[in-house]
Amino acid sequence: MGVMGLSFSSAVATVVIVLGSVLNAAVVCHGGITSSFVRKVEKTIDMPLDSDVFRVPLGYNAPQQVHITQGDHEGRGVIVSWVTVDEPGSNTVLYWSENSKRKNRAEGIMVTYKFYNYTSGYIHHCTIKNLEFNTKYYYVVGIGHTPRKFWFVTPPKVGPDVPYTFGLIGDLGQSYDSNMTLTHYELNPAKGKTVLFVGDLSYADNYPNHDNVRWDTWGRFTERSTAYQPWIWTAGNHEIDFVPEIGEFIPFKPYSHRYHVPYRASDSTAPFWYSIKRASAYIIVLASYSAYGKYTPQYKWLEKELPKVNRSETPWLIVLMHSPWYNSYNYHYMEGETMRVMYEPWFVQYKVDVVFAGHVHAYERSERVSNIAYNVINGICTPVNDQSAPVYITIGDGGNLEGLATNMTEPQPKYSAYREASFGHAIFDIKNRTHAHYSWHRNQDGYAVKADSLWFFNRFWHPEDDSTSTQS
Ligand SMILES: [Fe+2]
Repeated sequence: MGVMGLSFSSAVATVVIVLGSVLNAAVVCHGGITSSFVRKVEKTIDMPLDSDVFRVPLGYNAPQQVHITQGDHEGRGVIVSWVTVDEPGSNTVLYWSENSKRKNRAEGIMVTYKFYNYTSGYIHHCTIKNLEFNTKYYYVVGIGHTPRKFWFVTPPKVGPDVPYTFGLIGDLGQSYDSNMTLTHYELNPAKGKTVLFVGDLSYADNYPNHDNVRWDTWGRFTERSTAYQPWIWTAGNHEIDFVPEIGEFIPFKPYSHRYHVPYRASDSTAPFWYSIKRASAYIIVLASYSAYGKYTPQYKWLEKELPKVNRSETPWLIVLMHSPWYNSYNYHYMEGETMRVMYEPWFVQYKVDVVFAGHVHAYERSERVSNIAYNVINGICTPVNDQSAPVYITIGDGGNLEGLATNMTEPQPKYSAYREASFGHAIFDIKNRTHAHYSWHRNQDGYAVKADSLWFFNRFWHPEDDSTSTQS
C-alpha cells in the first residue's frame, strides 16, 4: 500500500511538473528581442587619479566641479553649484543674457561636510531665478580669485507643443567606459539639451572608506557637460553612503551636500523625490531608497502630485527612479517589486508615458504592461499587455567600474521588448504634443547610430489610437 501510494504520488507529481513546465513555458515565452550584438568582454576599470579628465583647473581657489540643474518648477530658475578648495571664496554668480550687456548677480550659500577622514572643499550653491525662457546666458563663478565663465540655455516656456530633447544616462561612474558614454552623448547629433540622470553617480563608495576624493574626481570629470546643461538628479543606492562601522550614520551625506535639487518648488519635503516641468514634459523623480510605503512622506506627496499634472499643458509625463520595476536580468531581479506594488496602479491610472530607471548595468525596454490585478487572494501575478501602462526603460548602462550585467533570465519574458548588455545612453526627443522619438545608442557604434528606437504616440492626445508606440 505504502509502495503503491508512493508511486501514485510520484506519477501525480510528474504530471504536475510536466504540466507546470508546459504552462510555465506558455506564460513566459514569446518574449521580445535579445540583441545578438556581443560586446567584446573587457574589464571595466576606473580612470586613474592623474587622468586628464580629472585635472584641477589652474589658478588660486579656482572653482571646480561646476554643475547646474533646474532651480524652480517651470524652468526659469537654475541652481549653479561649484567647489573651491583653497578658501571659501565668493558665493556670487555673475550672469547675463547674450542679448544684454547688463550683468546680474545672485548670492548663494556655502556648505562643507566631513566623511570619516575626508573633509570636503567649500561647496557653493546659488539659485538664479526669473530668467527669460529660451535664452542663452553666460555665467561666472570664482569671483575675486580665479573667475571661470560658462553658459547655459534656458528651456522654452512650458507648453504642449514645445519640442525638447532629453538625454538619458544612468549608473555612470568614472571608468574609461564612463568617459566613452559621456563623449558619445556629447557628440550625438540629436543634441540632448538636458540630462535625465537615473542615479548612481560617482561610485566613490566602492573605494576604501567610501573615499570621497572620488566624488571630487567625478565632479571634475562630468563638468564638461554638467556646467553647460542641467542634469536632473535621481538618487541611487551608491548615493546612500551609510557606513556605521566608520561612524557615518547619515544616509546620502556626500550626495545631498554636493547635488542640490529644487524639491521645495514641487512641495516635496526632501530632495529625493520631486518634480519639474520642462518644455512639454512633466518629470517626476522618485526615491527607490527612501520610504515609499503607505503614509510615508513620499507616498503622500506622490498621491497629491499625480492629479496636479495637466496633460493639456505638459502632455508628456516621465518618471525617473533608480531601481527598475520590469527587469529580466539576473541582477537586482525584483528589487523594484515593493515599490511597483505600491505605485503601479497610479502610473496606469494617470497614463505615465515612460519610466526610466538604472541600477542594472545593461539596457532593456519593456512592452506596455501592467501587473495590477495581483492580490494575495486571487494569486494573479502575471504582467499583461496594458495600453494605459508606461513603457519601462532600464538605462543603467553608463559604464561604471562594476562592469556589465550580462546574465539574463531565459527565456526572455513577454514583457521584455528589447534587451542588450552594452554600455550606452538614450535620447527622448519630443516633437510636439502627439509624437516623441526615443532612441538608444550603444558606445561601440557611430554617434548617429540608433541601436534601439521607438516612436511614442501620446495617449492623452490620441486616446482612440491603441497603437501607442511602434518600433522604427
Ligand atoms: Fe544602483
